[in-house]
Amino acid sequence: MESKTNLRAVLAGCGSNSKYWLDAAREIPDLEVVGLVDLVEESARRKAAEYGLQDAAIGTDVRLMLEQTSPDVVFDCTVPEAHFQVTMEALEHGCHVLGEKPLADTMEHAREMVAAAQEAGKIFSVIQNRRYMPGIRRLREFLKSGTLGPLTTVNSDFYIGAHFGGFRDHMQHVLLLDMAIHTFDAARFLANADPVSVYCKEWNPTGSWYDHDASAVAVFEMNNGLVYTYRGSWCAEGLPTTWEGDWRIVGQRGSVKWDGGENIMAQVVSETGGFHSTYQDISPPPYNSVEKVGGHLGLMQEFISCVKTGATPETICSDNIKSLAMAFGAIESARSGKCLEIAW
Ligand SMILES: NC(=O)c1ccc[n+]([C@@H]2O[C@H](COP(=O)([O-])OP(=O)(O)OC[C@H]3O[C@@H](n4cnc5c(N)ncnc54)[C@H](O)[C@@H]3O)[C@@H](O)[C@H]2O)c1
Repeated sequence: MESKTNLRAVLAGCGSNSKYWLDAAREIPDLEVVGLVDLVEESARRKAAEYGLQDAAIGTDVRLMLEQTSPDVVFDCTVPEAHFQVTMEALEHGCHVLGEKPLADTMEHAREMVAAAQEAGKIFSVIQNRRYMPGIRRLREFLKSGTLGPLTTVNSDFYIGAHFGGFRDHMQHVLLLDMAIHTFDAARFLANADPVSVYCKEWNPTGSWYDHDASAVAVFEMNNGLVYTYRGSWCAEGLPTTWEGDWRIVGQRGSVKWDGGENIMAQVVSETGGFHSTYQDISPPPYNSVEKVGGHLGLMQEFISCVKTGATPETICSDNIKSLAMAFGAIESARSGKCLEIAW
């Protein structure tokens, strides 16, 4: 357990997404960003200037930066291919690590990283910021209340015509690797279950502006017997869903629908006996807590608090690897055309 009140952090990777980290970091009073690293030194310098971090060290090499600044924590906002190297070096230097999703670029790397964190006795946790939104927390609380009875089925739809125009247009498995990890993680969270097997079909729709498959459907069997189905595309024009996706969850006594935003509607059985049962509309209560909300900020606050108290964050690597295994399992199933067991 750490006894210090002020924690010193190094941020690795000063690209477009680092904005969310730095915005959040300045809201956390007992956290000091002491170093910024990027392969492109100018990117790190620019962030230091933008965020008034004139005293922060600037570097292009994570190892040298860790030797120079000896931080308590490392924030890894580099590209997925660099997560392994950054995390392993940070753990070797005795740092706790909070890394961007996906945890790693391969399952082999992910397993090594989880083992290294456990051996080092340090926290290695992953940003799944979409878990830290009031809508999903509200739905999760409602499901936990048992109003719908035991859950049997979870469906999610994700359809967004995303014209990124950058590396994603040329990336393999762009939807499954870069986006579906959020949706799969949400499914595990909502269903309170872990994956057992997957069958997935991935394809690139005719007329697609992507080089590789940008659409997928996947059927997961979960360890509580529940079935989770995913349908998604980043190459679908019109009627977009939210980035959280559109959900239907079925329990033995009723169903709930969530649009990924504010709208949650549920019905439970009030009377049975006829061809159709009679249903009662239910409005799940709002999520009123200030805990576990706020996207990157909420997750980073939890991480910092856990570093100080020795508690375990919700998105600890040993749990988050199961969401990653859903993404890699789906990719492997699509490649082989077979239904595959999921292991982590
Ligand atoms: N949680 C979310 O909602 C969300 C959204 C977007 C991106 N991301 C994730 O954030 C990460 C970064 O994405 P981005 O959009 O900022 O990418 P980006 O390409 O804009 O930035 C990545 C930066 O990392 C730097 N970098 C690469 N290897 C490095 C290394 N070894 N050491 C130091 N710096 C290194 C690059 O020079 C670049 O500036 C990815 O893992 C991505 O999946 C998450």
